[in-house]
Amino acid sequence: MATVTLRDIHKTYTDTEVIKGVDLDIDDQEFVVFVGPSGCGKSTLLRMIAGLEDITSGELLVDGDRMNEVPPDKRGLAMVFQTYALYPHMTVAENMAFSLRLAGVSKEKRMERARDVAQILQLEPLLDRKPKALSGGQRQRVAIGRALVRNPRVFLFDEPLSNLDAALRVQMRIELSGLHDSLQSTMIYVTHDQVEAMTLADKIVVLQGGIVEQVGSPLELYHHPRNLFVAGFIGSPKMNFMSVQTVGVQDSGTTVRVPGDATITVPVQPRSLSAGDRATLGVRPEHLRIDNTNPTLMGEVLVVERLGGETYLYVKIAGGDTFIVQTDGDSRAKVRDRVPIHIDGDLCHLFNIDGMAIPKAERHHLTVPHHPELLEQTEAPLEQTYEQQTQSNQVPRQAD
Ligand SMILES: Nc1ncnc2c1ncn2[C@@H]1O[C@H](COP(=O)(O)OP(=O)(O)O)[C@@H](O)[C@H]1O
Ligand SMILES: [Mg+2]
Repeated sequence: MATVTLRDIHKTYTDTEVIKGVDLDIDDQEFVVFVGPSGCGKSTLLRMIAGLEDITSGELLVDGDRMNEVPPDKRGLAMVFQTYALYPHMTVAENMAFSLRLAGVSKEKRMERARDVAQILQLEPLLDRKPKALSGGQRQRVAIGRALVRNPRVFLFDEPLSNLDAALRVQMRIELSGLHDSLQSTMIYVTHDQVEAMTLADKIVVLQGGIVEQVGSPLELYHHPRNLFVAGFIGSPKMNFMSVQTVGVQDSGTTVRVPGDATITVPVQPRSLSAGDRATLGVRPEHLRIDNTNPTLMGEVLVVERLGGETYLYVKIAGGDTFIVQTDGDSRAKVRDRVPIHIDGDLCHLFNIDGMAIPKAERHHLTVPHHPELLEQTEAPLEQTYEQQTQSNQVPRQAD
């Protein structure tokens, strides 16, 4: 059992405040990821939890007990760093068991524990090797092993995969996910990489400038970013934005005029915007379509990026903004082509002049989804939406 609670945590270095009041509840066994741009305070926050930095003000609780004054080695937490400085003259087993040696555990017990952990991390054949005879991924696994041998209540990871090459990062990501499944312990993981955050987290905490911008599951953040920053940070390639003018507000949605004069109705709650207001429309590259029959606006292709499975077109649209459009892997689009782009209002986000998202309109009578994405855009929990869907469409259930 290990819950972690942060209550109005602040951190000030001399006269600069770098953490500006963070409140957070981390559940037992949860995999929580702190994500945000470099310098936003992720490491500082993690190091305060670990006890490596003093907490200027606020309260840190682990399992309900105040930890502010508890020394790091008494908190029952273990941290894995980006730079996994292993002791070069010690074997893998000795490296992993080092903290136990400091704690006065007998050699026999230490080696037994190192063997157990090596089994979990598939390091058994390497126990007698020195670090210089290991690959980068193996070294990182030893660093994780050093945390594991201590059997901590909570694991803290600070960008542990940043020094690995791309392929290895993906593999280690999968291993970490598996490790979390098998250990069932609480994990707090820091990264600047939103893909790592999306793939690993039960809960993502998006930070910017020492402030929590939003907390939610990966899909909550993807479908319901609460402001422009989160909308632009979560999702890859990032969400496209353009400046629009509100022309009408109805119960079912708000209609905006986009550059090039077309109008789009976005199903957001009324009352937040009025006719005449400026706003920002957001739409993800994967939600745009090249469509001759029903174009919303035209654009000129500037760059074509072919990834095989899909193609990204960088398109200059009326008004001068560049949009990224995700299209088929075998798209024939070329630089300088004029392409018709269809924007589906149901898949768009609207932000007011302050950059805050306008909440989506509630939808009670959901029928067959035109787009599967739409299902997850409703406010209702997924299960309920699925129930509504199966009931309203009379999808045959299993025979009784
Ligand atoms: N010891 C320190 N003294 C003064 N400022 C610091 C110190 N450590 C970090 N900072 C500042 O605090 C901010 C947050 O840093 P950090 O938590 O390392 O960011 P992140 O891990 O998100 O990249 C940065 O602006 C950084 O310059
Ligand atoms: Mg950092």
